[in-house]
Formats: sequence, structure tokens, C-alpha cells
Amino acid sequence: MRLQAALFVAACVSPAAAIYRDEVNHIDFHHALLGAPSPDSTFFLKPSSASNASLLYTISDKSILGAVNPRDGAVLWRQNLSRAGSPAGAGILRGSDGNNAVVGAAGQYISSWTAQDGKLIWENQFLDGVVADLELLELEEAGATSGTRDTLALISGEGTGAVRRLDGASGEIKWEHKDESGDVAFQVSSSPTEVFYISLQSALLKGYKIKVTALDLVTGRQTRQYTLNSENDIPTPESVLFVGANVASPLIAWADKTHKTIKVNVIGTKQVQTINIENTSDHEIRQITIHAPHKLNSLPHFLVHYVTDNGAWADVYHVDLKSSAVSKAYQLPYIQGQSVVATSSIDANVYFTRITDSEAVIVSSASHGILGRWNVETSSEAAFSAISEVIAKGKNVAVRAAVLREAGAWELIRNGQTEWTRHEALIDAVAATWVEAEVQENLVHELEVEGHESMVGAYLHRVKRHARDLQYLPEWLKELPQRILSSILTDEVTNLDSFGVSKPVIVATKSGRVYALNTGKQGSVMWNTQVEKTSEWDVKSIVTRPGEVTVYIGDGSSVTVNVSTGEVISRSVPTDVKLQAILSLENQETIGIKEDGSLTGAFADAAAFLVTTSADGHVLGWSGRDSKSPVWEFVPPSGQKVISATSRPAHDPVASIGKVLGNRSVLYKYLNLNLALVTAVNEKDHTAGFYLLDGVSGNVLYAANQAGVDPSQPIASVMTENWFAYSFFGDVVDESSAKGYQLVVSELYESSAPNDRGPLDAAGNYSAVDSLPLPHVISQAFVIPEPISQMAVTQTRQGITTRQLLCALPESNSIVGIPRPVLDPRRPVDRDATTAEAEEGLFRYAPFLEFDGKWYLTHSRDVSGIKTVLSEPTLLESTSLIFAFGGDIFGTRATPSQAFDVLGKSFSKLQLVLTVVACAVGVTFLAPMARKKQVNLLWKAN
Ligand SMILES: *[C@@H]1O[C@H](CO)[C@@H](O)[C@H](O)[C@H]1NC(C)=O
Ligand SMILES: *[C@@H]1O[C@H](CO)[C@@H](O)[C@H](O)[C@H]1NC(C)=O
Ligand SMILES: *[C@@H]1O[C@H](CO)[C@@H](O)[C@H](O)[C@H]1NC(C)=O
Ligand SMILES: *[C@@H]1O[C@H](CO)[C@@H](O)[C@H](O)[C@H]1NC(C)=O
Ligand SMILES: *[C@@H]1O[C@H](CO)[C@@H](O)[C@H](O)[C@H]1NC(C)=O
Repeated sequence: MRLQAALFVAACVSPAAAIYRDEVNHIDFHHALLGAPSPDSTFFLKPSSASNASLLYTISDKSILGAVNPRDGAVLWRQNLSRAGSPAGAGILRGSDGNNAVVGAAGQYISSWTAQDGKLIWENQFLDGVVADLELLELEEAGATSGTRDTLALISGEGTGAVRRLDGASGEIKWEHKDESGDVAFQVSSSPTEVFYISLQSALLKGYKIKVTALDLVTGRQTRQYTLNSENDIPTPESVLFVGANVASPLIAWADKTHKTIKVNVIGTKQVQTINIENTSDHEIRQITIHAPHKLNSLPHFLVHYVTDNGAWADVYHVDLKSSAVSKAYQLPYIQGQSVVATSSIDANVYFTRITDSEAVIVSSASHGILGRWNVETSSEAAFSAISEVIAKGKNVAVRAAVLREAGAWELIRNGQTEWTRHEALIDAVAATWVEAEVQENLVHELEVEGHESMVGAYLHRVKRHARDLQYLPEWLKELPQRILSSILTDEVTNLDSFGVSKPVIVATKSGRVYALNTGKQGSVMWNTQVEKTSEWDVKSIVTRPGEVTVYIGDGSSVTVNVSTGEVISRSVPTDVKLQAILSLENQETIGIKEDGSLTGAFADAAAFLVTTSADGHVLGWSGRDSKSPVWEFVPPSGQKVISATSRPAHDPVASIGKVLGNRSVLYKYLNLNLALVTAVNEKDHTAGFYLLDGVSGNVLYAANQAGVDPSQPIASVMTENWFAYSFFGDVVDESSAKGYQLVVSELYESSAPNDRGPLDAAGNYSAVDSLPLPHVISQAFVIPEPISQMAVTQTRQGITTRQLLCALPESNSIVGIPRPVLDPRRPVDRDATTAEAEEGLFRYAPFLEFDGKWYLTHSRDVSGIKTVLSEPTLLESTSLIFAFGGDIFGTRATPSQAFDVLGKSFSKLQLVLTVVACAVGVTFLAPMARKKQVNLLWKAN
């Protein structure tokens, strides 16, 4: 009891929850994600001519442009290029060494960003189509002042195409060439004097002819035009293998349909040279890719990479630009397994890096001699593309290559060593859950067994359990000195793992993957498994059981994987009903909820109740006695439709049933486990209703209606203990209302008078269902600076610690934890708090709630796209785990009442031990002296 009291007092300490600088990245972690990198728009680039250090630039399938540090894989800056309302188009990114800008495009927008720090230089929108290709003009014009190169943009619209030259510094159009012939606008390429616009002309019968239009570089005027007869080989635009960007590789290449020959045209000439493919493998060629240098002064050499189902080989070709002749130089041999090739150049020399399952090899384009060879670790993921940077020092070469793997993983291999891996598929996380440590679960199971046996049986079981535990004793004794030593020498913050603060988190993504992240080790990936080949995995819930975790899908199927390895243990087949949610009941059963709100089966517990929502906006209540028809149905009034419903969390301990007021009287909390908070909106007249329902009877216990609500803005709600909160964007409707984002907090009490339990006092329990008394509700509204997309509440083991309201803020890309006392609806309005109120912790109400810098759990990090915030208790009452996902991944520990049960970092155990030793030594020395002195005194006195 005394301990509880101590905890309680500690919990009341003012909640200044800022973390120390040295705890950043220690108790929290952040994966800043980009999405799967686009292979054609990922490259190494030196952002400034003053330094040799290069960065990795990419644009992802989510149209996020990012610069990544090749040393550690950290994102240095990133920008979201997609704009609301712009048609989707593949992201394109271009940059060149010595240019201080990278130019990116997505949909209708082109924008230029400083390469070093990602600041916007200009942005341009083209309404006549989406950007199909971009190139940077490599040659600086005489008289150009800035270091930025002009951009060539190809816009592809409905049956039209346009080539535009954009000024490097301002993005303004210098000239444009319009093509209204109905051709497919395909690519652009440039030479020192001309711009080539390459389009695909639909041939009479089938296929496409390649049409090349040469434009004057300075004026954009058409100088000549010709077509290449390729219609028999090119059925779709995707059949064109390669179009070079500039004079480093002025080529157009395609293969015939049977993969017998490759046709190569040097841009600017009409000749088409046919190269026979020497098929040395005994398998069909599945894929042909062409790799050529991009840097202006590189030799015009290129490599053709042939991939079969079993292996791959490559041929290297040289182009004679004078005669436009293409000749084969040498071959890279057929190797079984996967293989990817990357090109890089140093001055004029071109290097090809080939990475296979077992090794990384560098060759020069000039001859087949191997310049460097390293062993690489085999990866289970198939690689589909790579980019590389080769550094030559005298005779030695070094290489770092970024390998793009399936499922968005991105891996940097330096001289054969994997330096880092970015798991970009986590950006599509749709569900997550914590894993209980297995040891604890076993103990829980054993205790459950004991609870169900007779007194004697339980006693014997317990004696046996302790006897079994004895086998670990020698091991434990052996480790003891080590543990004592390490606990004295290391600081406390690292040492909390045994208190459940580093539980793994299981995350399922839309792309059919399951990840296990170690929250104790900066959220590092422990394992990941492609469980399903899909891009729309409709995960409804994840349930962990000892040793395994089951992912439930909306089609009624489920997959169970081993929690420590990620191996698939079992699968269940889909059913023909589509489910909107899947609940896991306490007895390990699951129950599906169909789109119309009905249940897939009965739940065994006859006393339990379930509340569901239906697709047409009703709320249904079910009892375990009858799973066919609902016990009650709630239809919100005045044309409103239910958009969400929340309940108290499954783990929601209440430390005290009353609130002690300053004058020692008590307000009793209205604690009902069966509450549901329903949010309904009417999109036409812009009203929103928040209804508190009793889940057993369906009675409305409390209703709040808000007018002037913008239903297109996020509406979030949460409920716990005896209070709930919701937020919305409200417009001015009358004098008393305010325009802005509002956060409303309501507390439920049994009675408005202190020391009064209302009608419940006599009832003793809730059995009198129909006459359930209504709660006394105290509400207060706050105006907040920005929208809240999702709310949650910190969870602690016993609920003693003050709670924090966790809010995901999509506008500032952060998560705040608002301390509960700040949101107390009983804060005095228009006057200062009396002494009694101040004693309770109440202070004067202010309508505008500014988010304090200390509340930001994400601190200065840019945690973007968060859709869900989860909280989980630990064995430490003070500490709550937080995990957020949906875009980035973020995890931290929250201590809303400070870490009162943990010794801080500044507490030195070593110092304590030394002090005790010093005291002991002092006492041993001083005690005989003191005794002698006393004896002497006695003698003197006599
Ligand atoms: C860049 O590298 C070259 C050769 O590798 C060297 O000569 C030059 O000094 C380096 N520049 C800087 C700024 O480090
Ligand atoms: C990028 O911005 C667009 C438009 O504002 C938005 O729809 C999209 O969700 C953003 N993407 C990410 C990953 O945040
Ligand atoms: C390559 O050779 C194998 C066996 O000789 C054959 O099955 C395959 O079709 C050939 N591929 C091509 C593209 O000719
Ligand atoms: C999970 O894998 C581990 C290691 O391979 C194994 O010891 C354990 O039995 C597996 N658990 C289940 C439930 O299959
Ligand atoms: C204690 O204070 C509350 C208001 O803070 C008041 O309603 C109540 O009557 C007071 N009780 C006593 C016994 O003074």
C-alpha cells in the first residue's frame, strides 16, 4: 500500500516530459521512408563541385524525392512531389555532377531543388499533360551566369506532345515544340547542337514506327525529321529497350520479338544496325536491359544484359560515332542465379559493376580484364536493379553499389560488404501489434492453470513449477557476477530490457509483407517475410499468441508465422464474405464482422456484448446469446451517418474510482466498461454528432452536436477511463462558436455533487440494465493550432501514471502527447484558480491551446504520413511504449509523470558503491580511535 501511495504521489509530479539530448535515438527511433526507389531515377551525384563526396538521390513510387547519405543510409532531405489533384505519373529525377540542382517531375509538375539541402528553386505546372521525360542540357551556354543547367521536358497529353526547354534558374519556358500528330511522345535526347524528340508513330497495321524529330537547341525550330521502320518489332512502347539521353550514348535500341537480334540506331542517323544475340544458355531470354554511361565525356560504350529464368550474361559493345558502327568488344560469362549490372564512369572511362549471388566484379568497358572482385553475402530477395560508383586510385578500384531489391528494399554494398539496408516497403504498413515476451506468456499460462485447479492441485503444480525453475539456478549463479558488474558500470537507460520496454513489434504492409521490428534496437528489422504476392493486402488485424503471430485478412483468410523466424506456419483459405473487421476474443477465438455489421459466427461468452457499425451508417449491438439478429440498433438522427466508433482500450486499468477535490471531497468517476463513442456526420448541413452509447442496452447516455463541422477535414476521437475527447474543424455558426480546429474533452461522473454516488450507490452493480443512470458530463472545448488525424492515450500497467492524449499532427508531421491535467474540463473559466483548486492542479482556462514544445514526442523530427499511433504498457508503471506507422515508422517511450520508478542516467551506482566502501573504511579506522579517545576522557575526568 505504501508503495502504491508513493507511486501515486510521484504520478502527481508535474509532467515535464522533455527528454535529454543524449536520450534521442536511444529511447526513440525513426525510419524516414521514401517508398520503393525508381530504378531509372536513382543515382549517385556530387551535390557540390567543391567536394568529392557524393550522395544518393532517388524518386520513389510515392513520388517522394530524397537524398540519402551513402555512408549510413540516412535521409538528408526529402520532398513530396505529388500534388493534390494532379494526375498520377511515374516520378522522374535528373541531376548531373557539378550542377547544384536536381530536377524532378511527377504528374503535371516539374520542380528544381538544391541538391545539397533540398530547397525549392522553382516549380512549374503544365496543364496539357503529364511529364513523360526530362533531361538536363549538359552544355552550359556561353554567358550563362548561374551553375544550373537548362531542363528539357517532354509533356505527353491526349494525342499531343510538347518539348519545352526550361530555364535552369527560373523554370521559365525558353522555347517549345508542339506535336499534334497524335504520336506517342516518348523521350528526348540532346547533343551539343540539337535536341531530338523521339515519338512513336502508330503503324498502319500494328506496332509503332520510331519517329525522330531534330530541333535546334537554341531556337527549338524543327531542322529535320525521319522515321525508322520498327513496327514489326515494337508492339508496345515498352518494347523499346533504350533511348540515350545525350552524346555519351546517342542510341536507340530495341530487340525483335523472338529475342534473336538487337537493333541499334545512332540518334541523328537513319541507319539501323542489327546485332545477333549469341544465345549461350539453354533457357529462353526473359529480359534484356541496356546499360550505358550518362556522363557527357564518357566513351560511347554500352552493355547488353540478358536474363533467363536461371541465370544471366552480358555483352559489351563499342560505338564508332564517326561511322555509326557498333562492334562487340567482349562478353561477361553466363552465371547461374541472379545478376544485376550498373554503369559508372570516371572521366572518359566507363566501368561496369556486376553483382551476382556470390560476387561483385568490376570490369572496364575497354577490355574484359577484371579490375576488382569481392564476395558478397547472398540475399533471399531478388535484386532487379543497381547503381554504382567506382573510385579508382592508381591500380586499385573500389565500388559502392546500391542494389534495389524486390519489395522496395534498398541495400548499399561497398566492396562486397553490406553497409546498410533501407526497408522502404514499411511505408505501406497497415497494421501492427506488440509481441509479448515468450517467458512472460508461459508464466501467465502456468498461473492460469493454477487458478483453475483445486487448492491442493494448485499447490502441487506450483511446487513442481519452482522445482523446474531450479534447473536454471547454476546458469543464473554463473551470470550473477557479470550482471552485477554490468549493472554498476552501464547506465540505467540501457538496462530496462527486462522490464518489457523493448518488445518486438510485428508490422504487416499492404504489399503482403510481415516485418518484425526490434523496438529496443532503434526499430531494426529482425526478420521480414513476403507472405502474400499482392499489392492490396487487406489486413484487418494481427494477433500474437505464444511463439506465433496470425495476420487476418479481409477476405476471411489468415496466415500464421513463427514469431522468432518469420516462417509461415499455416494458412487458412479465404471465405466468400468480405469482412470489415476481425476481432480477437479473450478465449483465442476470432469473430469476423461483415460489411453490413453482422457477425460471421457466435461468440461463446453469453455475457459479452459486441458493438459493430454497418456500411450504411448504423450501429448494431450484439449479445453472445444470439449472433443472428442484433439486440439493438442505433440510427443517428437528422440524416447523419456513422463514420467511426471507438471504445475504451482492452487494457484500461483505473487506479482510483474517484477524483479527490481540493477540499477532500470526492467526485466519483462514471466507470462503465461497455461504453461506445460513435461519431456521425451529415455532409450536407455540416453537422457532426458524438454519441455515447451503452453497449449492453444501446441507450444513448450522452450526445453532443456540433454545427459548422467541415466533414472533409479529419475527425478523430478517443475514449478511456471516464473521459473521451474528439477533434474536428469547426466554422463560425453563431457568436459562441469559433472558427478553427477544435479539441473537446468530456469527463463522466456519477453525480454532479461530490461525495455522492447518485443512483448507483444503492444499486451496487449494473444488473439493472434498463434503468442505467445517465452520467454527469463536464465538457470543455479548446481551439488548437492544427488538425489531429488520429488520437490515442498512453497506456501504463496499472493506470496510476497520469495519461497523455497522443495526437498525430499531419500538418507539422509530428506526434504530441498532451498531458491530461491541461485538458481538465474543470479548469476555472474567466477567473484564477482558488487555493483548493490549485491544490487539485487546476489552473485558469484559456480557450486557445498552444502545443508546448515539450509535448512533442517526435521532437524536431519530421515524422510524415502517420496514420496510426499505438500505445502499450510496460512492466514499469511510469513507462508507456509508443509506436506510430502508416508512412514513416516512429517509436518511443513516454513517461507522462516522469520515470519515477527508474534511476536516472545521472545516478551513478559506482559512486554509491564507492561511497559505501569509503564509509566502511572510515568507520574501521575511526572506530578504534574514537574508542581510545573516550577511554582517555574517562581517565581525565577521574
Ligand atoms: C577529388 O578527387 C581528386 C582525385 O580523386 C583529387 O585530386 C581532388 O583533390 C579531390 N578533391 C577534393 C575537394 O577532395
Ligand atoms: C504527398 O502529397 C500528396 C498531396 O498533398 C498527398 O496526397 C500524399 O499523401 C503525400 N504523400 C506522402 C507519402 O506523404
Ligand atoms: C536460347 O536457347 C535455348 C536452348 O537452346 C532455347 O530454348 C531458347 O529459346 C533460346 N532463346 C532464344 C531467345 O533464342
Ligand atoms: C519457431 O522457430 C523456432 C526456431 O526455428 C523454433 O524453435 C520454434 O519451435 C518455432 N515455433 C513454432 C511455433 O513453430
Ligand atoms: C468541495 O468543493 C466542491 C467544488 O470544488 C464543492 O462543490 C463542494 O460542495 C465542496 N465540498 C465541501 C464539503 O465543501
